[in-house]
Amino acid sequence: MSADLALPARLLMGSGPTNPDPRVLRAMATGLVGQFDPAFTALMAETQDRLRQVFRTRNRSTFPVPGTSRAGMEAAVVSLVEPGERVVVVENGRFGLLFEEIARRAGAEVTVVRAPWGEPVDPDDVRRSLDATPAAAVLVVHAETSTGVMNPVRELAAAAHRQGAVVIVDAVCSFAGAPLETDAWELDVVVAGTQKCLGCPSGLGPVTYSDAIAARMAQRRSPIRSNYLDLTQIDRYWSPERLNHHTAPTTMVYGLREGLGIVLEEGVEARIARHRGAGAAMAAGLLALGLELYGQPPGPGKMPMLAPVRVPDGVDDAAFRARLLEAHGVEIMGAFGSLAGRIWRIGTMAGNARPAAVSRTLGALADVLGPPAREALRDALAAADQHFDTLARAPAPA
Ligand SMILES: Cc1ncc(COP(=O)(O)O)c(C=O)c1O
Repeated sequence: MSADLALPARLLMGSGPTNPDPRVLRAMATGLVGQFDPAFTALMAETQDRLRQVFRTRNRSTFPVPGTSRAGMEAAVVSLVEPGERVVVVENGRFGLLFEEIARRAGAEVTVVRAPWGEPVDPDDVRRSLDATPAAAVLVVHAETSTGVMNPVRELAAAAHRQGAVVIVDAVCSFAGAPLETDAWELDVVVAGTQKCLGCPSGLGPVTYSDAIAARMAQRRSPIRSNYLDLTQIDRYWSPERLNHHTAPTTMVYGLREGLGIVLEEGVEARIARHRGAGAAMAAGLLALGLELYGQPPGPGKMPMLAPVRVPDGVDDAAFRARLLEAHGVEIMGAFGSLAGRIWRIGTMAGNARPAAVSRTLGALADVLGPPAREALRDALAAADQHFDTLARAPAPA
């Protein structure tokens, strides 16, 4: 007889996944119904309505792509961009590089506008690029999880539109954790993630796009090269037409509906304020432990829900993180490319954007760092606490 699955309990404090809300996991254990069962199609409509509220949009085309967040990114690119069309990719981190790779594989002619890792892109650079070489679309990551940088997507969208280009925005990490206004900022296509600030497992890539984008996809000169990631077909399955496409991952949709419900019960603004407060608390605690933060100072260019931390001199990145996991059950993340071994990425997302998770992480870090961080723990907890007292209850900026 095989034993039941038994895994250690972990506190997931990296750049995602974060621990899903127990309500989401319970919803996912609900019995299956068929994907065209009226009970399920009603749940689909409800999920779309909730997605629209969190995306802050009235877009009809708003639904989850089956697959992880990159499936959403790839679906957006492959469905919108025709082979040979020019796109601008903004690259200042690992996920900008991912957009670049996806665009090249889709057959686009790619112009890359780069900013150094750790710095937001300057909208003027994108403006200049579009002036010199017009493009159909600008692809940009809102919250660049590899470096902790927020890119100014609102300004980039305005710059793109002035030159007749549309924007495709990766909001995988900012969704439900930082200000994101699809309609007010005139974002043409937005892709979200489930396993970060939303507090669901990974496995769906929610997308939203305007009617104008839907019309463009319908009027393409060449067929969309992917069947599975063809947004026009997935859209028809999620519309009242219910065109048969893939076999819906119904369990994932149960979880998404529940996760979105939790966000709406809390209120989007309140949740954003909580993420801001928790991120500030974590950063203050890390500094008080004697650690050094990498990248942007607090402000519009910095992701509120992710603290990139310099690995202290003489500390072995992988061995440290393994010890943290083994001794305390706390997971933090390493980094990619030139930052690998040099920074840790410590997240405060979804249910873990709370004092208990921040305090436990600071305690675990202090213990594994040893003296003098251990002696500094009391101060670190006090520094974190102050931010919870003030910022967590402050309203989100307009
Ligand atoms: C900003 C960003 N974009 C895209 C992705 C890719 O998401 P997934 O791993 O779910 O495909 C991630 C995942 O870490 C991310 O942080």
